Amino acid sequence: MTGATAAGRYRHPVRSPLVLGIETSCDDTACALVDGGGRVLASVVSSQLAAHAPFGGVVPEIAAREHLANWPAVAGAALAAARATLAEVDAVAATRGPGLVGALLVGLAIGRAFAWARGRPFFAIHHLEGHLYSPWLGAVGEPSAPVPDRFVGLVVSGGHTSLYRVADGAIETVAETRDDAFGEAFDKLGKRLGLAYPQGPKVDELAELGDPRRARLSRLAGTEELFFSYSGLKTQVLVELERLAARGVRTAAAAGAQAPLPAEVLDLVAAFRDSAVRQVLDRLTRLHRREPFARLAVSGGAAANRELRRRLPEWAAERDVELHLVPLAYSGDNAAMIAFAALRRLARGVAGDDPLATSAESRLPVG
Ligand code: KG4
Ligand code: ZN
Repeated sequence: MTGATAAGRYRHPVRSPLVLGIETSCDDTACALVDGGGRVLASVVSSQLAAHAPFGGVVPEIAAREHLANWPAVAGAALAAARATLAEVDAVAATRGPGLVGALLVGLAIGRAFAWARGRPFFAIHHLEGHLYSPWLGAVGEPSAPVPDRFVGLVVSGGHTSLYRVADGAIETVAETRDDAFGEAFDKLGKRLGLAYPQGPKVDELAELGDPRRARLSRLAGTEELFFSYSGLKTQVLVELERLAARGVRTAAAAGAQAPLPAEVLDLVAAFRDSAVRQVLDRLTRLHRREPFARLAVSGGAAANRELRRRLPEWAAERDVELHLVPLAYSGDNAAMIAFAALRRLARGVAGDDPLATSAESRLPVG
């Protein structure tokens, strides 16, 4: 369980409403407390990695059972870190989708029951709405930054590679991936390399050791469309790995072995990452050329990608775009972003949802 706590006493008094956030859409059990100033008082995330590791990916039923088992400890840790009691919670926010239905239902049912029993407002939040506003969250104990009314949001994760236009709380989808998501392509390549789940961050680390210019990866022809597509790039890199393997090059890390992968493989991994990041920058350039925008917010688990974080500031500076990169503490799934999204709704005067009538949705259009 990784937690963040506000060390020492708060520098500012806790502002109401105090929002309890719950996020259980995939394999992280998360609980957070965020105050009315958008200040994260505590954000606790319990990973289920160990439970899913033997299967090489997330097993939906195991995820749901783990959420149920982990929740009491996660919520207890968040409340203790925030030095708050349940009685002090003014509103509850839980993710309603998209995600694994069984996993979502656990967090949603907990939030619904609590809000109903205590007569507190309840907010059923879209997971992507949470990610979209997360770049403005501050470090634990610090206030959030003011969220602008209009911005373009880029979400890169294991399930999404999408561009949105956000205006006064309305979210319009501009582009999505037609096949694999950015993080998903990293995960699949990592699996082929014999890495343990989640492979994305490890592939990113391996790419640091290679030289993208030395690998044989042809540049895929671009289109004038805005949509993303990563399955072609993924297939290309997998085919190249088979070619290397046929030449006797070791292309997978043996379980438990410490020997580094050969340089040819590392170069290929670096070229893959380079192409994946180029595609993101290419779509941003196209969108900016079509309809210029002044602010870009980048979020999602794969927004932790090192190459992406290195290249985005330059891209933005060249176009005079104000860049808001999600802090690493909130790039992966967390509950602070869910509570924060509920606060945005409260600030706009949006009423809460009926705690007895909200259902979990595996697929859910945003906006
Ligand atoms: O937002 P998130 O925690 O969960 C989803 O909603 O998908 O994102 C997790 C995804 C996984 O696919 C993971 O491999 C990927 O983000 N990811 C990365 C990196 N860190 C996490 N992908 C590439 N480079 C990274 N550094
Ligand atoms: Zn996510």
